Amino acid sequence: MTDRTFYIVTCGAPLASRVGDGVRAAREHGWIPYVIPTDAALPWLEGQDLASVPVLTGNRKPGEPKRTPKADAIAVVPTTFNSLYAWANGNAGTDPLTIRCAALGAHAPIAAVRFAKHDLADHPAWLAYLAVLRYGGVRIVDPHDGSSTSLSQASGKGEEVTDGFKWEWIFRQL
Ligand SMILES: Cc1cc2nc3c(=O)[nH]c(=O)nc-3n(C[C@H](O)[C@H](O)[C@H](O)COP(=O)(O)O)c2cc1C
Repeated sequence: MTDRTFYIVTCGAPLASRVGDGVRAAREHGWIPYVIPTDAALPWLEGQDLASVPVLTGNRKPGEPKRTPKADAIAVVPTTFNSLYAWANGNAGTDPLTIRCAALGAHAPIAAVRFAKHDLADHPAWLAYLAVLRYGGVRIVDPHDGSSTSLSQASGKGEEVTDGFKWEWIFRQL
């Protein structure tokens, strides 16, 4: 697989600090990466070396050409509680959400790393909407070990989980 378009959508949680590693890993796998952060993810991108990759912020303006080729695969690393709920409900109020909703409709390969602290992860909507996305074909990845079999394990947060995360877990799902 070479020269295929790969979106890294990233949301506002500590795992967004590993996006630069994802860009490097994507290239090693022959993908051409584009980074698509939510506004809440932007503070975690500061200080990362992303000069070589398009980072698409804000919404595309009327008349502006499309900013990326169509994605061949998408990684959502991480997906927050907020974004999971919006995505699963078809809320396309921002470009990062529109891209995720459209990718579901297009049946593109998608892997999403769930990332919510325990109180949020115990909210009933979390498990329900993880199941909705899985039903839609999204590979839901555990941030601790890269497994995708269980939705019910506690989700991760913070530096420990972030440091242990391996981008290889994503590429083996796609
Ligand atoms: C330091 C910090 C850590 C956060 N960690 C998480 C997290 O692990 N999971 C989560 O769902 N939200 C977390 N949040 C909250 C999200 O950033 C917030 O809900 C935001 O609105 C998400 O927007 P987005 O889904 O558009 O990225 C954190 C916020 C801050 C400031």
